Amino acid sequence: MCVMCSTLNVLVYLLVISHFVVEIACRVEFTNVKCNSLDKEFSDFEYCYLKSVNRTYKYASLKVNLFQVPVTNVSTKLGLYKRFSGYKPFLYNLTVDACKYLKHQKSFPVASYFYEIIKDYSNLNHSCPFDHDLILDKLTTEQVNNRFSKTLTFPEGDYMVELHFLAYGINRAVVKAYFTLS
Ligand SMILES: *[C@@H]1O[C@H](CO)[C@@H](O)[C@H](O)[C@H]1NC(C)=O
Ligand SMILES: *[C@@H]1O[C@H](CO)[C@@H](O)[C@H](O)[C@H]1NC(C)=O
Ligand SMILES: *[C@@H]1O[C@H](CO)[C@@H](O)[C@H](O)[C@H]1NC(C)=O
Ligand SMILES: *[C@@H]1O[C@H](CO)[C@@H](O)[C@H](O)[C@H]1NC(C)=O
Repeated sequence: MCVMCSTLNVLVYLLVISHFVVEIACRVEFTNVKCNSLDKEFSDFEYCYLKSVNRTYKYASLKVNLFQVPVTNVSTKLGLYKRFSGYKPFLYNLTVDACKYLKHQKSFPVASYFYEIIKDYSNLNHSCPFDHDLILDKLTTEQVNNRFSKTLTFPEGDYMVELHFLAYGINRAVVKAYFTLS
């Protein structure tokens, strides 16, 4: 028909689309974090918790003591799970040689996507070896939201990120972070 109408249609279409994007991509809310050492001779968690200061200020902190330093060989396995009935694998499942990654971050974009969320809140931002306690200090929901809201296009729901830490090929620790997208 007329140009006006089709312009209007496009506008409405864009509004609907952007509304939809807002709906699927808005807020991250931490719900839990669980840490488990699988080899207490090698490493253990000094603390690992999620703290709710108030409704809007929530953060995760954890500290790992390493007992056999220096650690020169680390890899991490990351899995993203979404809850349907029980948590089911969802999208990402990657194993990264952490020492190689820390040296050549640009060559591992998917790993960087996740690493950049915690980078500024941890003392992990250096190349191997690791000869000190590992700390993630007050990673806030706000910070995660800032990262995610730029790029996120996942559907709403309950999710879990499961991280396995291997040293010298042996699984030493598991961290599970639970969150909701709404
Ligand atoms: C939540 O706590 C933070 C840190 O103490 C404070 O800055 C913020 O104003 C509080 N927000 C509300 C809504 O009470
Ligand atoms: C990742 O792959 C392993 C083995 O291939 C499988 O057991 C696991 O469920 C997968 N996890 C995710 C999140 O896809
Ligand atoms: C640490 O982070 C800074 C800034 O984000 C980055 O430029 C630097 O390359 C990182 N260092 C290492 C060793 O990864
Ligand atoms: C790390 O250790 C595992 C198991 O011993 C080995 O297969 C792997 O090649 C090592 N990685 C590096 C970069 O040396």
